[in-house]
Amino acid sequence: MVQPGNTRASRALDQGSNPCDPIAVFVRLHRGTTSQGLQPCSGPLHYTMTIQPVSEYDAPEILELIQKYFPYLEINFDLFVKRIHHPQFFLQKSMERDRLAGFSEWQIIDLKNKIVRLNGIAVKPPFQRRGYATALLKKGEEWVETQKMKKIILLVAETNIAAKKMYQKNGYSFSRINLKKINGEIAEIWEKRLK
Ligand SMILES: CC(C)(COP(=O)(O)OP(=O)(O)OC[C@H]1O[C@@H](n2cnc3c(N)ncnc32)[C@H](O)[C@@H]1OP(=O)(O)O)[C@@H](O)C(=O)NCCC(=O)NCCS
Repeated sequence: MVQPGNTRASRALDQGSNPCDPIAVFVRLHRGTTSQGLQPCSGPLHYTMTIQPVSEYDAPEILELIQKYFPYLEINFDLFVKRIHHPQFFLQKSMERDRLAGFSEWQIIDLKNKIVRLNGIAVKPPFQRRGYATALLKKGEEWVETQKMKKIILLVAETNIAAKKMYQKNGYSFSRINLKKINGEIAEIWEKRLK
């Protein structure tokens, strides 16, 4: 769920609007707001955001996002579909009405120590800075809790200021530098412990 007080996205309002998903978030852009790829508004606009499970029909768009933002990941259609149905994975998409805005992928990597890794999260540029990633994080964390896991870890490029701000804002913190560079870049390990 989006936290109360988030200035860009207010809390789920209509749980019945989408049978697939309990989260529906209405994002309000105020008069004069500009955002990447969006026209300034001439009046208040309401964008309907839902977080939904991923299906194989989403593969082309999500694989394109993965290719763009995580080119070092070796993933193809078959692997992607396997992950959708694998109980240790959780893939979800954020939608603005019928348009895919972003996705995230979570994976249980250590059952003994109850650790989940956020493998990837990305939002298409026209939808950025509107709370889509935050909603994906909240929904993913709900899944982590249902799995009785206690800790989330993730890798982020040292230079990825936008992502690091987003993680920090959502309660994640720097843990250590990853031993291996990723895609030639220094990568940081960030984590969040759940109660
Ligand atoms: C990082 C990313 C997922 C953020 O998605 P988003 O939907 O725009 O994030 P949100 O709207 O939920 O932003 C939450 C907060 O994060 C911070 N943030 C997000 N993008 C930011 C940016 N470009 N610059 C500075 N801060 C930013 C802000 O504090 C923001 O809150 P605010 O808009 O109220 O100020 C998106 O920029 C993206 O897809 N980037 C490319 C892929 C990527 O880097 N993924 C992370 C890999 S580790």
